[in-house]
Amino acid sequence: VSVGDPDILNPTPWGSSLGQPVAASPYGQPSKHERGLARRQSPGLTQVAAASVSFAPLQGLFGIITPSGLHFERHHQGWQDIDPTRHRFMIDGARPEFVKTPKVYTMDDILRLPSVSRMHFIECGANTGMEWGNVAVPTVQYTHGMLSCSEFTGVPLRTLLEDCGADLKAATYVLAEGGDGSSMTRTIPIELVLSGEVLVAYGQNGEMLRPENGYPLRLIVPGVQGVSWVKWLRRVEVGDRPYATKDEAVHYIDLMPDGQHRQYSSIQECKSVITTPSGGQTLVDKGYFTISGLAWSGRGKVKRVDVSVDGGVNWVEATLQTPVLSKCLTRFILPWNWDGKPALLQSRATDETGFVQPGYGQLRAARGSRSIYHNNAIQTWQVAENGDVSNVQIL
Ligand code: MTE
Repeated sequence: VSVGDPDILNPTPWGSSLGQPVAASPYGQPSKHERGLARRQSPGLTQVAAASVSFAPLQGLFGIITPSGLHFERHHQGWQDIDPTRHRFMIDGARPEFVKTPKVYTMDDILRLPSVSRMHFIECGANTGMEWGNVAVPTVQYTHGMLSCSEFTGVPLRTLLEDCGADLKAATYVLAEGGDGSSMTRTIPIELVLSGEVLVAYGQNGEMLRPENGYPLRLIVPGVQGVSWVKWLRRVEVGDRPYATKDEAVHYIDLMPDGQHRQYSSIQECKSVITTPSGGQTLVDKGYFTISGLAWSGRGKVKRVDVSVDGGVNWVEATLQTPVLSKCLTRFILPWNWDGKPALLQSRATDETGFVQPGYGQLRAARGSRSIYHNNAIQTWQVAENGDVSNVQIL
């Protein structure tokens, strides 16, 4: 900004007039100047918008929490705004001996029970799925935006199963069923339920879930791909075998290089991405920038993130911002002085199990290039001499 800038020299309208009264906007909205930051659909990706996805604008977010209104959406049959007084949640058994007292809960019943609040990421298994074969989309919103992170509040599913007298020794799996028209049903291994991590949740970031995200009740399955986080949750059945439903036998399966399909690979492996600078942005000038991004692992905490500005030849350890939580997004930052020459920005995350995020060469050697799900490869952003940032792939 040059000397004589009128915006610092002259009186401003906002400094010389009366502002808006309180409660002018009873449920607050973002500034009108922030309207460009929005969930977006990828044109041509799906045929109908009710069976589609909207991507979260990761490039414009700070910290680790996704504002509820920007949480990505993935619906198989559209979203509903269910009347909570009419919503019911049922627990029963595949065989009568699995659940002593099958029960139907109202929302009031569930809200009376002891709750927990926990911060977790949710990532659709298909996140980055368009990039398996080659570069397909221009921005981090489309490459990685099927990812969000919230504080969720709810009752551990284990508590509810115990309330119904479920036989947690005989049970090996549960089936979770959604109340929308998509017949969304997913098998959840009982170990995850017994750990107390799986929640029957109604709260998201301090308020009730948004309708798009499953209001009034959804399943939270930390570390597991988004499809298992069944929205508009209406039933959990206790059983002793995987159910092989349509969304685990035909969809959400990994096509392997030998042409076989792999089922039930539900954990989201360690992954990271630089959100700024990222594809579609332009660096205004050479000099100081902060490289910033997100890292996560479905197996626990992120241990470290390394950043390269030369396409993976040299790596520098980034700073992890706190808090670093299990199965939650972690924000990393690294100062960078851009010398104005072309650069290739990458991040590589390692989780507490020692798993290191693979490059595209490594990932394709193991998984081929024609899959849809579970692409956790290292992302590369190319910075051109004019400052333009674009999506490229490096093996
Ligand atoms: N649950 C129901 N009942 N119906 C759905 O279409 N979509 C699933 C899952 N739960 C879905 C559902 C998929 S594929 C994903 S990735 C997540 O919800 C997306 O959750 P979100 O829309 O809150 O981001």
